[in-house]
This record gives sequence, C-alpha cells and structure tokens, in this order.
Amino acid sequence: MNAIKHYLQFKDFTRDEYAYLFERTRWIKEKFKRYEPHHPLFDRTLVMIFEKASTRTRLSFEAGMHQLGGSAIYLNTRDSQLGRGEPVEDAAQVISRMSDAVMIRTFEQSVIERFAENSRVPVINGLTNEYHPCQIMADIYTFIEHRGDIKGKTVAWIGDSNNMCNTWLQAAELLDFNVHVSTPPGYEIEPERAGLYGTNHFEQFADPMDACKGADLVTTDVWTSMGFEAENEERMKAFADWCVDEDMMQVAAPDAVFMHCLPAHRGEEVTAGVIDGAQSVVWDEAENRLHAQKALLEYLVIGRVDS
Ligand code: CP
Ligand code: NVA
Repeated sequence: MNAIKHYLQFKDFTRDEYAYLFERTRWIKEKFKRYEPHHPLFDRTLVMIFEKASTRTRLSFEAGMHQLGGSAIYLNTRDSQLGRGEPVEDAAQVISRMSDAVMIRTFEQSVIERFAENSRVPVINGLTNEYHPCQIMADIYTFIEHRGDIKGKTVAWIGDSNNMCNTWLQAAELLDFNVHVSTPPGYEIEPERAGLYGTNHFEQFADPMDACKGADLVTTDVWTSMGFEAENEERMKAFADWCVDEDMMQVAAPDAVFMHCLPAHRGEEVTAGVIDGAQSVVWDEAENRLHAQKALLEYLVIGRVDS
C-alpha cells in the first residue's frame, strides 16, 4: 500500500543502516548520560500495542519516547477493541491516523505484517513468536560497546530455537558473524526454517559444551516462551542439560561475555554464578534497549540525522 519504512524483522535494515543506528545509539546514550535534552520527536506520538506481558519493552519504548520529546500510549488486547475481534487491518487504519509510529508485541508475525500493510506510519516489532529484532539490535550494540565489531565473531546460542535464536540467525547473515546453536533433541532449527532466514552463518551442535567452545558471546533465553506455557513441564525435562553454567563459560573465549534478554530463571537456563558473574553484561544489555530504540524511533519517524 505504501513505501513507509517498518521494522518487522532484523533483515528489514541493511548493514549500512545498522552502522548508522549503532553510531546514533552511542551518540544518544552519551547525550542522555550528560543530562542533555534531545527532543527530535517533540509532539509526536507512539502507540504501543501489547498482546503479551512486558517489563523492558514497554518501559524502554515509553521512557524513550518521552525522552525524545514525544509521548507514548499503551494499548492492550484486554481493554481495547483489539481483543474483541476488530480486524487488524481496520485497527491499523485508525491507529495510524492518530499517531506517528506503532510498536506491536503479538503472537504470529503475520499479524504485525498485516498491520504494517495497512498502516500510514512506521510499525515496529516489539516481539512476535518468530522474532525479537529490537532486542538483538540492543544486544549487538552491547557487544560492540564491550568488545568492538561483531563481524567474524562467534555467538553460542544455548537452549530453545525461539524468536531470539531466529533473530540472531538473521543478524549473523547480515552482519557477517557465526552462530553456534545447541538445542535439546526435538527443538533443533528445522532446515526449512534456516532456509527461510537465508543464512549459512550457523552450525548446530548436539552438545552445548561444543557450541560454547571458543565463543565470544554466550547467550540463552527462557525455556518456555510466552504463548508456549502448556509445554512448560515437558520443556523443563527436555532442557535440563542446557543450563548455561560455569563449565560452558570456561570453554568459551577467555574474554567471552554472557547475555540474556531477560527475564531470567536462575537454575533453569542459566546458573546464578554466570548471570551474576563477572562475564555477564545483562544489565548493560537491558539498559541499551532504551538507547537503541531511541535511535530506531528517531530514524523511522524523521530519518537520518547528521549531528
Ligand atoms: N527482553 C524483553 O523483551 O523483556 P520484556 O518481556 O520485559 O519486555
Ligand atoms: N523468548 C521469550 C523472550 C521474552 C523477552 C518469549 O518470547 O517469551
């Protein structure tokens, strides 16, 4: 319907756009730390639609929009017409006539795509069953801050081949790094899914220790993502040996960092020793959601800025 730029998957942006966004994130973060106001989105409005729970995504988008001089409106499916069967296409028409950008956290990726096709303003994926691009953008920015360029590095993904894993695979293809994936049997990345992401920058390992060997970044996520709660008991048994622990960090590169998008479950997907240990950068990672998304909002709403 239109040529508006949306951010629905990691591969929606080019390598050059990410180079700009990472640099802009650094600039925005430094300015924020100096308590210098930056209001490029004065009088602009972000609508945030949540069909799933959130702490970080809501907080970072809402605070971020405020800090950019605009405002954010929170809608959920429980107390809006979205939960009572209003067509996504109709909601997109109406919501996008009253706002400057829309962020959506929902179940199927197809919902956000249908919304975007009917939206007059940029649409941002705040997590779907398939992808979590805002999180990976912040994660890669965090890696760059701590260790420099991610090109040629190795990321070990331990656990579920979920929305986070899928997004790491897309990012690896685009930014030219490798992902070592280890999942329990039955939870592997299916070859057709890998094909869908168009990537050959990953390798699967039966043993998580092998996946971690020499890795520059070790990362994991919950064993049961939102929407899969009915499988929780079965997953707890299947994933028991996929807890990121001190032994796994020991075989990674000596300066490897640990990341987790949070919320975390100590004693399940990661030990307390690792997530609370010296190699963990999870708090910087969470904070960088704010700075990276401010760069993203500025870029989608007003475009590239030189200063
Ligand atoms: N990492 C992340 O997206 O956290 P929330 O679910 O709290 O938004
Ligand atoms: N994979 C998790 C990420 C939560 C931020 C989920 O989808 O629930």
